[in-house]
Amino acid sequence: MNILITAGPTREPLDPVRFLSNRSSGRMGYALAAAAAERGHDVTLISGPVALPPPKDVQVVRVVTAADMLAAVKLQLKKCGALIMAAAVADWRPVHVGKRKLKKGRQQRMTLELKPTPDILTSIGRFKGQRIFVGFAAETHNLRNEAKRKLREKHLDLIVANDVTAPGAGFEVETNRVTIFDAHSEEQLPLLTKREVAERILDRLEAGRKT
Ligand code: CTP
Repeated sequence: MNILITAGPTREPLDPVRFLSNRSSGRMGYALAAAAAERGHDVTLISGPVALPPPKDVQVVRVVTAADMLAAVKLQLKKCGALIMAAAVADWRPVHVGKRKLKKGRQQRMTLELKPTPDILTSIGRFKGQRIFVGFAAETHNLRNEAKRKLREKHLDLIVANDVTAPGAGFEVETNRVTIFDAHSEEQLPLLTKREVAERILDRLEAGRKT
């Protein structure tokens, strides 16, 4: 199967030397890409800026902003049978992007005006067709309700939810403790390495394949 995977954070520039972003390391998405390629799938990985080596036998497309990532996903979507959105897409971008470095001057306060970035899953929902969509939900509270809301609103077949405040889960660690929701069930997994979580997600994806 052709599988499209997104990974890492996006960066939303403020001026030539600054950006807004988040703590995503890209490890979960890269582990998924490596595991899927080893299973013999054709894998395209759309990656935000991360410090990880490209996985073997994976085509990597590098992007920076949420808008870049949306454009790359749209371009690659046609050929894929499944999309796994593991990227931590930045939700906000500065309204004004300075062409020059913003100078500190003598100001004692600085207010940034932000506008939403495009929501990739919501934007491509109408092109879904028979494809399987898998999303992630990184939450600090109301995990189950938030995961179920995103599953519905973002046209997902599966959503992999984790409490990023739990020990050994979330950002910048090798392990994760996740619950996989579909429309009818929830499967709580133990603390696993991100590679093991990737294998469990791919098992579910392959079991649910429509084509
Ligand atoms: N996502 C996306 N486009 C965005 C933001 C998120 O496609 N602009 C995807 C993520 O890759 C993930 C899923 O949507 O698979 C949920 O992301 P998350 O950040 O948990 O949710 P948000 O939509 O940002 O909602 P909230 O701010 O309410 O948590």
